[in-house]
Amino acid sequence: MRHLLSAGDLDRDAALLILDTAAEMAALSDRSVKKLPTLRGRTVVNLFFEDSTRTRISFELAAKRLSADVINFAAKGSSVSKGESLKDTALTLEAMGADAVVIRHWDSGAPYRLAHADWIGGSVVNAGDGTHEHPTQALLDAYTMRRHLRDGTGALEGVRVGIVGDILHSRVARSNVLLLQTLGAEVTLVAPPTLLPIGIEQWPCDVSYDIDAVLPNVDAVMMLRVQAERMQDAYFPTAREYSRLYGLDGERMRLLPEHAIVMHPGPMNRGMEISAEVADSARAVMVEQVANGVSVRMAVLYLLLGGAKELGE
Ligand code: NCD
Repeated sequence: MRHLLSAGDLDRDAALLILDTAAEMAALSDRSVKKLPTLRGRTVVNLFFEDSTRTRISFELAAKRLSADVINFAAKGSSVSKGESLKDTALTLEAMGADAVVIRHWDSGAPYRLAHADWIGGSVVNAGDGTHEHPTQALLDAYTMRRHLRDGTGALEGVRVGIVGDILHSRVARSNVLLLQTLGAEVTLVAPPTLLPIGIEQWPCDVSYDIDAVLPNVDAVMMLRVQAERMQDAYFPTAREYSRLYGLDGERMRLLPEHAIVMHPGPMNRGMEISAEVADSARAVMVEQVANGVSVRMAVLYLLLGGAKELGE
């Protein structure tokens, strides 16, 4: 495999290989010297057209821990703001010898254009494209669930996951549904009808409008950010109303089984989809998700650039 564009590109073996490799990488992070020489002399470019805190820093740290040279390219302050096209930007990166391009773009499908137009010879990793996909987020989420619910080994057969909130605008939800299905988990999406995409019936998961009915039956609940920046219309009456019907507060959290974990990809709108009490509770694993993100991205970069054959053709 040369690129990672969609969580759907990964079959069960490839997904498990990434998760197992990430566990080995995590062991490295516990050492005082956290670097591996594996990607010495290789160049990884972080090409971020859209804002990001966690994902960009996480990819940067992952590449650095593998000893790669890292270039951070943000569209703001670059020639993109002068109207340079994705193609010209890509050709520039190619001329500079990028071995991997990690791209986040506001257009759904931009990483595909980059990968399939043959503008660049290296690997393309999708770090979030529009409302489409975010495969490394799904991998770090699966890694986190595996650690908490499966002792860090095997797939996620029979694990029940609720994904709650703004599914319509969420690339995290789509990638998670695809990967979790591959790993054998059972997913229920929970959202108001206005925040569900058209064609949701075809997704390999259940759909509910009732969070209180779903919570007692899940092992993990993933709260999604209400993506106000992607909303031109009114999708719900008021923030207060949204929060009352679909937000996770302390009282609702107590509907979860004892062992269940609370996840959120960040950034959180505290008081909107998740209350401060829940975000700061012992069940919340957001900080671990961030830490696991580095290990998972190390594994992805390592396998794509170093051990590509192991990931299949
Ligand atoms: C998500 C994203 O950007 O898709 N965040 C992330 O990568 N950690 C989710 C979001 O923006 O709400």
